[in-house]
Amino acid sequence: MSHFRIKGGKPLSGEINVAGSKNTALAILSSVILGDGVTMLHNVPNLSDVRVKANLLEKFGAKVTWREGSMIIDSTDIQQGEADEDAVRKIRTSFYLLGPLLARTKEVRIPAPGGCQIGARPVDFHVKGLVRLGAEVYLEGGIYHARCDRLKGAEIYLDFPSAGATQHLMATATLAEGHTIIYNAAIEPEVTYLADFLNQMGARVEGAGTSTVTIHGREALTPTQYSIPSDRLQAGTFLIAGAMTRGNVTVRGVLPEQQAALISKMREAGVEFTEENDAITVHAGERLNSIKVKTMPYPGFPTDVQQPMAALLTTALGTSVIEETIYESRIGHVQQLNRMGADIAVEGRCAIINGVEELQGASVVASDLRAGAALCVAGLAATGETTVKGIHFIDRGYEDIEGAFRALGADFERVVEDGAKEEQGSET
Ligand code: EPU
Repeated sequence: MSHFRIKGGKPLSGEINVAGSKNTALAILSSVILGDGVTMLHNVPNLSDVRVKANLLEKFGAKVTWREGSMIIDSTDIQQGEADEDAVRKIRTSFYLLGPLLARTKEVRIPAPGGCQIGARPVDFHVKGLVRLGAEVYLEGGIYHARCDRLKGAEIYLDFPSAGATQHLMATATLAEGHTIIYNAAIEPEVTYLADFLNQMGARVEGAGTSTVTIHGREALTPTQYSIPSDRLQAGTFLIAGAMTRGNVTVRGVLPEQQAALISKMREAGVEFTEENDAITVHAGERLNSIKVKTMPYPGFPTDVQQPMAALLTTALGTSVIEETIYESRIGHVQQLNRMGADIAVEGRCAIINGVEELQGASVVASDLRAGAALCVAGLAATGETTVKGIHFIDRGYEDIEGAFRALGADFERVVEDGAKEEQGSET
């Protein structure tokens, strides 16, 4: 297996462009099959999760080709298929294919998505929503079976504003007969982007980006071209890395309003920012102050930058508290940061971070995607050398992260071990 070798302690400086959004690409890849024909997606991040999703589409009859940064998906011959259980377990969004496949093929069998180290992540909202839309859905031997002749619009209330359930049900309802209303919908930007994509295909989705989404079902959708917007979570990671190394970093291709929660909490800790229309520059000179952070659905503080944020606060003055309210066990970074000299205790869903003067390089292991990002950020700021193992998790969400940090002046390299065969981690 490969690993990252980071020689830390150097302030990052320079400019970086953010790649296409992983979570938007994954949601859209579930929905392309709603149309019958050729869809062209631009600015698609070349990430392992995206490649796994493309392979899954092929199992159901799609033809997928890459042309530079674009992906061409021909969904003319979508048919019932057998999805490989291992592939389905690798990415949670494989499950979001269920509704769109059902709308196209009337009967679907798909293995249940697996568990992962950040929480239980059930799919009950998805299943209940599909049943409300008239599908018969049952789980047998670890396989979800779904059947329906024609889906019918319905009112659906989500017990929690789940991004994935909102996306899945919104996309599925575009081909249902009649109107669907999703109450307590997620308002994450990735939901709005998916609605834009669906509307470009001829769907009628209204209210995406608010907590009530209305979908007027159509008989058919037409494939389109779409450019994947930039990844706000990756942007957040770069901003934190700039601050943690006491650097001066401009992140381009980012919408400042999507970073409002992160920026205001980092400002509270003493980080300074300059904002332009589509760029943010982070400056951090002095030692930061401790703060309290609580993760919330958008526009609250994103759970996906909670772990890098914890890395940042390890060297703040005083005691910081991060409360994780979305996932019950997104704490894989804590033990590893402590190996680097951090002082973090976990109490229930809170990480209590007693600030230390500095982190020291160490050998650490990523246990999930954002824990891996946190370890990279910590390694960039730590004195000495850090080795980050388990980097297949990081490759799921950051394309060429070593190149990105090197462009900012970091001493950061991927060491490919002889005969290395990258293993796939659990889902994001
Ligand atoms: N939930 C349920 N039942 C469901 C669905 C969700 O109880 O049927 C719960 C989850 O267990 C969790 C909460 O609802 O406690 C929120 O989960 P949500 O459905 O919003 O998350 P998701 O759609 O599975 C996406 C992103 C995650 C991101 C979350 C929250 C993708 C592929 N994943 O997951 O991204 O953390 O939304 O914003 O879009 C990552 O990129 O590192 C990542 C994990």
